[in-house]
Amino acid sequence: MDKIIIHGGKRLSGTIPVSGAKNSALTLIPCALLTDEPLTLRNLPRLADIDGFQHLMNQFGVSTSIAGSRPEDFGRVMTFEATRITSSVAPYELVRKMRASILVLGPMLARMGEATVSLPGGCAIGNRPIDLHLKVLEAMGAQIEMAAGYVRAIAPDGGLPGGEFDFPVISVGATENALMAAATASGTVRLRNAAREPEIVDLCNLLVAMGAEIEGIGQSDLTIHGVKRLHGATYRVMPDRIEAGSYACAAAITGGEVTLAGARPEEMSATSHALRNAGVQVEAVKGGLHVAANGALKAVNLSTAPYPGFATDMQAQLMALLCRAEGTSVLTETIFENRYMHVPELNRMGAQIETSGRTAIVHGVAGMHGAEVMATDLRASMSLVIAGLAATGETQVHRLYHLDRGYERLEEKLALLGADVERVGGD
Ligand code: EPZ
Repeated sequence: MDKIIIHGGKRLSGTIPVSGAKNSALTLIPCALLTDEPLTLRNLPRLADIDGFQHLMNQFGVSTSIAGSRPEDFGRVMTFEATRITSSVAPYELVRKMRASILVLGPMLARMGEATVSLPGGCAIGNRPIDLHLKVLEAMGAQIEMAAGYVRAIAPDGGLPGGEFDFPVISVGATENALMAAATASGTVRLRNAAREPEIVDLCNLLVAMGAEIEGIGQSDLTIHGVKRLHGATYRVMPDRIEAGSYACAAAITGGEVTLAGARPEEMSATSHALRNAGVQVEAVKGGLHVAANGALKAVNLSTAPYPGFATDMQAQLMALLCRAEGTSVLTETIFENRYMHVPELNRMGAQIETSGRTAIVHGVAGMHGAEVMATDLRASMSLVIAGLAATGETQVHRLYHLDRGYERLEEKLALLGADVERVGGD
């Protein structure tokens, strides 16, 4: 397994491109199931999860092609053609490796009138139930059966009549499954308290480009008027606001300054607000976001929340930054029950963090030292990299496959900014 070796203390500076958003790509790709015409997605990030989803789509008989791109390019253009679906089953051996596979349930059900998906199971950050995915599909008229670790959804007479659903908990994935299933329902679907993340807006924009009729895009209440069929489209994936926020924290902890080309400041308000409160300069510039710090960081108190609140996916990265702040910060993780896996590893690097349930108390320290650390989940891994960039000495982050799921060519982007970083294989 690969690891990354960082020699900390280098001030990051320069400009890097922001890649396409992983959490948008993973819901745009299954939209290909909704039409027998080609769906071309531009700006897809080169990530393990995208490769995994391509393999899953091939499993259904969907043909995929990658447009020529030079090795030095960031991002890829991929075309998915679901002319014929030869299987409506997402098997355990694929789903267990990538829980986002559950996002084929809604579109496969809409296209084929039935879908069978292995239950994704939990992951490092929580048990990740899918009850809301199933309830919202039932509200549209689907029948749901569970057997032998699989969920099977069936549309009566092959089509979904439509209906209404009020989400008791805001769920990004369940909102995405609902939108994809509702697009070709025979009636109207009304969703209340739906997720409003930019990735949901990206999905709505793609579905509309394919011929769907959706009202309230960007709001909590969505109305989808089902249409008979959707056509193919060519669509550019939005930039990754979490990747951009992660590099902003990396620049800030080194007292550096970085321009994040392609970032959308309007989608990063909560992150920008938190960074400004920590004493970091953040400003929108033409075509992106400029972040600068002078080394003096201030403590920040915040809770994670659904969009437009502070993203849970940014909590670990901000915590790494706050380890070097003057004073004590209090962070509360309200979305997932086990999202402090980075804390023991940060403390091994000299941080002083205590956790109690959903709350983490971060006592700022004057300096941290490099160490051999273990990545546990995607965002926790990035927080260890961020800490290593400003720690004295050498940090080795093991189990790099976690990072490869969400950060396109991480070490190349860090090297572009002047970091002393090297990927080493086979530990
Ligand atoms: C998406 O996960 C993202 N993943 C996550 O990013 C992100 O952290 C999360 O949304 C919240 O923003 C992708 O988009 C691929 P949820 P998702 O359904 O859809 C509970 C990363 O690091 N819930 O919004 O699985 C759930 O337990 C990843 O990039 C139910 O109770 O998240 C959680 O407490 C990690 N029942 C809360 O809702 C359900 O049926 C929010 O989960 C579904 C969710």
